[in-house]
Amino acid sequence: MYRSWWLLGAIHLLVSVVTAMLPQSPIQCDGTGGCNLFNSYGVWNDRKNCHVPNVTYPRTENELLRAVAYANQNKLKLRVVSQFSHTIPKLACPATSTGNSLLISTSSYDSGIEIDAANLAVTVDGGVGLRKLIDTVEAAGLSLVAAPYWEGVSIGGLISTGSHGSSWWGKGGSVHDHIVGLSLIVPAKQSEGYAKILRLEPKDQLFNAAKVSMGLLGVISKVKLLLEKGFKRSVSYDFTDDDQIENKYMDHGKKYEFADITWYPSKHTAAYRYDNRVPLNISGDGVYDFLGFQANPILVSKSVRASEKVMDNGHNLSGKCILASSFLGYKKLVANGLKNGLIFTGYPVIGNQGKMQTSGSCLYSTGKDSSCAWDPRINGLFFYETTAIFPAPKFRDFILDVKKLRDLVKPENFCGVDIYNGFLIRFIKASEAYLGQPEESVVVDFNYYRADDASTPRFDQDVWEEVEQLAFFKHGAKPHWAKNRNMAFLNVQSKYSKFTKFVGVKRQLDPQNMFSSEWSDEIVFGKEGAKSDGCGLEGMCICSEDRHCSPGKGYFCKPGVVYEEARVCRYSPSSNVESDSPKTDL
Ligand SMILES: Cc1cc2nc3c(=O)[nH]c(=O)nc-3n(C[C@H](O)[C@H](O)[C@H](O)COP(=O)(O)OP(=O)(O)OC[C@H]3O[C@@H](n4cnc5c(N)ncnc54)[C@H](O)[C@@H]3O)c2cc1C
Ligand SMILES: *[C@@H]1O[C@H](CO)[C@@H](O)[C@H](O)[C@H]1NC(C)=O
Ligand SMILES: *[C@@H]1O[C@H](CO)[C@@H](O)[C@H](O)[C@H]1NC(C)=O
Ligand SMILES: *[C@@H]1O[C@H](CO)[C@@H](O)[C@H](O)[C@H]1NC(C)=O
Repeated sequence: MYRSWWLLGAIHLLVSVVTAMLPQSPIQCDGTGGCNLFNSYGVWNDRKNCHVPNVTYPRTENELLRAVAYANQNKLKLRVVSQFSHTIPKLACPATSTGNSLLISTSSYDSGIEIDAANLAVTVDGGVGLRKLIDTVEAAGLSLVAAPYWEGVSIGGLISTGSHGSSWWGKGGSVHDHIVGLSLIVPAKQSEGYAKILRLEPKDQLFNAAKVSMGLLGVISKVKLLLEKGFKRSVSYDFTDDDQIENKYMDHGKKYEFADITWYPSKHTAAYRYDNRVPLNISGDGVYDFLGFQANPILVSKSVRASEKVMDNGHNLSGKCILASSFLGYKKLVANGLKNGLIFTGYPVIGNQGKMQTSGSCLYSTGKDSSCAWDPRINGLFFYETTAIFPAPKFRDFILDVKKLRDLVKPENFCGVDIYNGFLIRFIKASEAYLGQPEESVVVDFNYYRADDASTPRFDQDVWEEVEQLAFFKHGAKPHWAKNRNMAFLNVQSKYSKFTKFVGVKRQLDPQNMFSSEWSDEIVFGKEGAKSDGCGLEGMCICSEDRHCSPGKGYFCKPGVVYEEARVCRYSPSSNVESDSPKTDL
């Protein structure tokens, strides 16, 4: 069966004329006045709807100002969301506890892009999409150096959550470290018209609080970013073994401006990305159309999902491993989506910065038979995304523990992430932002299977829970604000030495807590909710009793294999059998 997906994938790549379905709006209204807000995967961490009584779509900064004033005057809770709502935790959802609320969508506030070529800077409206910004600056012969790999995001949204690409060079891989101006609309006194615009610059006290602020301080209306003269990049991948990866990642990050590493633990494989800038006059018109962000035939996404589900329910690890091998083989063949022209013909692939850093071709074309693989309307891929940020030298201990765990529980138990993108390892620099990274850091991302409903345990979930707890608790990693299951945020405030400074600014700019919600408290303040039956299954809690797992289905709360203090939901065929020993394949 896997052969046919492989083939379909290959055919798709060669033919590339499949038509696609645009992502739906994250705001779905039922016609009776109320609307629901979703993230791009269609499901929040708690799987509950986010009901919003009123949504407004300002087109100008002045309309934004009036919306904030209206909410303040009417004592409404207020949140902002972008065109596609790509943040996974429920941050964009306005509070429900106090009755009425307003949601501002920035999807129509997306036209202003003013380039100041002499000063190598650009000022953009908060709702402008990343692709539009990149294309506009490239057309002016300039380049934006740092950007996330996924282009379906808005400038306001990506800055707010500390989004990043990968670089230890220059100002580094985090976009917020390239900002030199930011306009923030905050609530104000009646005499000031209920709302005002703060024009912040790096010298302002509030600047470092406002850069990464999750929409908790106010609405970001304008962002001024530094640019550089246009440049190209030359990219190659080396798919090799993962030996010594713990001793190589530091040098790799230092040596190549846009380095990253994708580690496929079950396959003992690491793909090192060799990626440096080259001058514009070097020939090459390549693009990086990242495979995972290309439009997929809906049939393929559905059948991969269906098989993953059958394999998980059937505890078929070898099936998952076959799937992982075929995908890895395909990625190697097509260089992850790098294209010298129409297709990949060989390394290095050289192309303009604007075509190499960021992609998302599944966002565009129109039609019915292809889409982003995770489009919530198609029963396609459905997964969790864990993203942990480590002080650079500490990442080594994490790798060593993961390797130890892999070897103890058997590598087959790690095939689940290798079906997706393995462990994507990226590099970001120290930032002045209060809720940014205080030191040079390494970010690791991994995606893994999520069940269709909250009460269905996953066969290998104990492994991913242990890896998560290794990262966030044993090794003190910080969670990416825009990703992760809720447990990753437990106690997050104690991991930021400037957290109290941020809270001080919050009190000053938003004294009524207009921009707070029960969800933002849960995430940003890392508050643990009440532990209910089954809460461990979806990372809504760390289990401490069997009932937090699924004893009825054979999943019990057990200690970790490498990290004793971890508590994970592990399958054990009989409740009477001691199940602390690693499980085996079927
Ligand atoms: C497929 C995919 C790939 C991704 N790849 C990367 C990656 O490579 N690197 C990375 O770091 N991240 C990545 N992300 C995460 C993504 O960059 C963040 O989730 C980003 O915040 C999404 O921006 P958005 O415009 O969709 O914001 P939203 O999800 O709409 O909002 C995010 C937060 O910002 C607030 N907000 C939005 N606009 C404003 C505004 N104008 N003023 C004030 N507050 C605002 C919202 O209230 C919310 O709290 C990826 C996500 C997906 C789904
Ligand atoms: C929704 O909010 C707008 C302000 O942005 C306001 O003018 C309008 O009356 C509100 N609608 C409802 C039904 O409250
Ligand atoms: C590119 O331009 C630089 C100077 O700007 C020049 O030294 C170099 O020879 C040029 N290279 C090519 C391949 O044209
Ligand atoms: C596991 O999946 C593989 C690949 O689909 C299949 O060939 C095999 O028969 C399955 N094994 C079991 C025990 O279901």
